[in-house]
Amino acid sequence: MKTLVYIGSDHGGYTHKQKIIAHLKKKGHAIIDKGVSSSEKSSDYPDQASLVAKEVAEKKTAKGILICGTGIGMTIAANKVKGIRAAMAYDTYSAKMSRQHNNANILTLKGRKMPLKNNLKIVDAWLKEPFSDGLRHKRRIKKIAQLERDAL
Ligand code: RB5
Repeated sequence: MKTLVYIGSDHGGYTHKQKIIAHLKKKGHAIIDKGVSSSEKSSDYPDQASLVAKEVAEKKTAKGILICGTGIGMTIAANKVKGIRAAMAYDTYSAKMSRQHNNANILTLKGRKMPLKNNLKIVDAWLKEPFSDGLRHKRRIKKIAQLERDAL
């Protein structure tokens, strides 16, 4: 299935972002790049996390991909946006499970200490995996949404 994907990175994830964009465009996905545009210039990961997460929270069928050096900063920042379930995946198993069980709408990746080919496999696995729709998973996701409401 072709997906609308918002993608962003900081300088630490820039190189992988560019390769992932080319890879996904070749597969026919619609990609919107929210920056950054350099691996040289230092940037703050919450800025791109915010741009991507707000789009994904608003457009329910869109998905997001965020890449920083470790994947950690992007995960923490994106999950501050209401409606976002950002999951960091470091192999295809964690990528698939984040869709099946958590209905993750943003995938976060590490752009350093990770071969590009691994990240490409992770992205492909994540994009094609559906949410399992099991009642227990729906119940747990509702509880996450309740945590967001409690925090207001
Ligand atoms: C930038 O050096 C680095 O801190 C960032 O890319 C990310 O790994 C933060 O979590």
